Amino acid sequence: MRLGDCHNVEDFRRLAKRRLPGPVFDYIDGGADDETTLRRNVSAFEDCDLVPNVLAGVAEIDMSVEVLGRRIALPLMLSPTAMQRLFQWGGEHAVGRAVAPFGTYFGISTIGTVSIEEIGRTVSTPKLFQLYVHRDHGLNRALIERCKEAGFDAIALTVDTIVGGNRERDLRSGFTTPPRWTPRSLLSFAAHPRWTLDYLARAPFALANLKDYVSHGSSVAMSVKDYIDTMFDPAMDWKAAERIRADWGGPFALKGIMSVADAKRAVGIGATAIYVSNHGGRQLDGGRAPFDQLAEIADAVGGEIEIICDGGVRRGSHVLKALAAGATACSGGRLYLYALAAGGEAGVARALALLRAEIERGMKLMGVTRLDQLTRDHLRWR
Ligand code: FNR
Ligand code: LAC
Repeated sequence: MRLGDCHNVEDFRRLAKRRLPGPVFDYIDGGADDETTLRRNVSAFEDCDLVPNVLAGVAEIDMSVEVLGRRIALPLMLSPTAMQRLFQWGGEHAVGRAVAPFGTYFGISTIGTVSIEEIGRTVSTPKLFQLYVHRDHGLNRALIERCKEAGFDAIALTVDTIVGGNRERDLRSGFTTPPRWTPRSLLSFAAHPRWTLDYLARAPFALANLKDYVSHGSSVAMSVKDYIDTMFDPAMDWKAAERIRADWGGPFALKGIMSVADAKRAVGIGATAIYVSNHGGRQLDGGRAPFDQLAEIADAVGGEIEIICDGGVRRGSHVLKALAAGATACSGGRLYLYALAAGGEAGVARALALLRAEIERGMKLMGVTRLDQLTRDHLRWR
């Protein structure tokens, strides 16, 4: 199986599974507890059908939307994800180069492996920094200042990771950042020599934004859950979110809002956008899927705040359904991470090209020339 054999996200997933040591693949692919929410995030889209209109004159269509202060050429953003250089040696550099021609938002995680400054210098598309609030408040303030200096366009504060989710695949594999060489994991690394050689021979792995403040995660191996539970500030509340919005002063999103009550509070603190998201099913298992919860939230706060549907997006038609239900745009993690692992920059470029083609074809088949023409009239729930 090669990149040219990948025609959808699931194909990239299969190729990624071959290329990656088991513990690394399971970190990307897995979710919390029974993975009910992880599965539901995708299947929610299948419980809703599209109803097209025809003869609409679709020779010219416009796929752009405005979100977080920028007009993006595609209604699909790249969600911030941790540790990309573990998935393929090019990491955020590879993703940044691949996303450039698509003119959409690239999200960079606090636990990223390329620094805010390097991203600022090299990435030409709109840039969003995802903030994890640490107990070390000096670190939080420094991250925000660095984003200002580096010319980031927006900040998203993640609010659904107040403690680490129970990811049992990671418990079984003993996955840590950086990877620990245990007798069991060594077998898996030895079985993937290309990945292992790249990991050992390329620039040393580190959590680039944090390594000067915390050695855990960079030079001291730790599980992701232990990192979250010891480093993140569990006292974070609405007052803290409002302060961060004010310190930053630019377009600001809360990532991980699921209830109407919280969506209204997000409007109340002056956020620009909310990510309706459950962290890709990696945190609270048994939680509702973003797409299931979208219409309720759009009915309550649509027009007052931008709504980003994040999680479970695997097809262009999923994006069309979310926009018809009331989302401003969609965002996704695994849809480009599998491709990164499968083929680096070329993989991500191919995945994004396929998804863009699906959105374009879908709009034409739905009989719309602009995304704001998609409405609930185009949807029927089963
Ligand atoms: C994530 N996600 C995430 N979110 C965040 O706010 N900060 C982070 O560092 C990470 N890291 C991360 C790593 C990996 C491997 C995955 C799969 C996800 C969550 C991410 O931003 C997004 O919410 C989900 O990926 C959405 O679900 P899908 O698109 O993967 O189904
Ligand atoms: C994750 C954390 C790091 O989902 O956000 O793995």
